[in-house]
Amino acid sequence: MRSRLTGTGSAFPFNVLTNQDIEKMVDTTDEWITTRTGIKERRIASSDDFTSTLATTAALKALEMSGVSPAELDMIIVATVTPDFPFPSTACLVQNNLKAENAAAFDVSAACSGFIYALSIVDSFIRSGKVKKALVIGAEILTRIVDWTDRNSCLLFGDGAGAVLIEADSSPGILDSFIKSDGSCWELLYQPGPGNRNPASHKLIDERLNFIRMQGNEVFKLAVRAMEDAALKTLSAGGFTTDDIDLFVPHQANRRIIEAIGKRLGLPDEKVFVNLDRYGNTSSASIPIALDEANRTGAIKTGDLVLLDAFGGGLTCGAMSIRWQL
Ligand code: COA
Repeated sequence: MRSRLTGTGSAFPFNVLTNQDIEKMVDTTDEWITTRTGIKERRIASSDDFTSTLATTAALKALEMSGVSPAELDMIIVATVTPDFPFPSTACLVQNNLKAENAAAFDVSAACSGFIYALSIVDSFIRSGKVKKALVIGAEILTRIVDWTDRNSCLLFGDGAGAVLIEADSSPGILDSFIKSDGSCWELLYQPGPGNRNPASHKLIDERLNFIRMQGNEVFKLAVRAMEDAALKTLSAGGFTTDDIDLFVPHQANRRIIEAIGKRLGLPDEKVFVNLDRYGNTSSASIPIALDEANRTGAIKTGDLVLLDAFGGGLTCGAMSIRWQL
């Protein structure tokens, strides 16, 4: 058995935060943000939005497209670094919201590569014959762990969720995947607390340890190299070259990172999907959000070879080739 994608969905908070809004918060300009990142605006959660509620809305849309009922699901994985609670998993909350009582539900933490990691796990379960129908969701509320006094990072991130429905089928949708991590660089991008090392305390708040810390320049360089490597490894494992790609759907972190990889892979602009101007970096949600938009707008067509490619904190990276069958 092989994995076939049969539904996509996405969900966003209602509120939009523009670059002009950020100009009023830190010393920056719309022009700087646009030229350095390509981002124009991002969605920002209100106090009523949770990672689990965004994830549930995206999941319902993917279920509706596929015609699968929640009771048929064997597995639900939520990729996230901004769960509702340390435990239980956000996936268990989604399971409860959906009334998917027959599913195993758990979260995957691989930062911005989380969706590809989660999809690889489901693909392995489907190939083993143990899972027939599964939901993979990437969902984040990053704006609650962003330091709104740090102009280097606060403008990058946004909130949202994307979901895909996977079903066992004799004809393959997911062709190949590659995932890899490098824990030696964990300090380049992380959230210091709350956790074992920095438990919840007044000190944590006073020292702003509950917010994302990032060395943007270093991350940028490593991202380009790792994403190129992951893309080429996945393609060659499937017997493909970059000429075979119909649509490249990279993690939406920074337009310059995406352009650099597209150039290294020799891809024309029209084969590279970009929507970060409207959503910023939504971490594990960015690829399923992009896939849902590409699917619903016709940017991906049946039979296309789609290449996913991601990089994130950990450090982690991953790529996946998919024959689109929707
Ligand atoms: N507005 C105006 N100026 C800013 C600024 C802002 N928001 N943020 C930084 N600057 C300044 C810096 O202070 C620096 O000034 P200096 O030269 O006087 O010291 C200058 O702009 C250049 O800073 P630098 O950090 O070299 O910019 P950059 O071109 O690397 O862009 C990032 C910064 C963060 C946009 C870029 O490094 C990046 O996107 N990195 C990857 C981050 C990422 O994607 N993380 C998630 C990975 S999944």
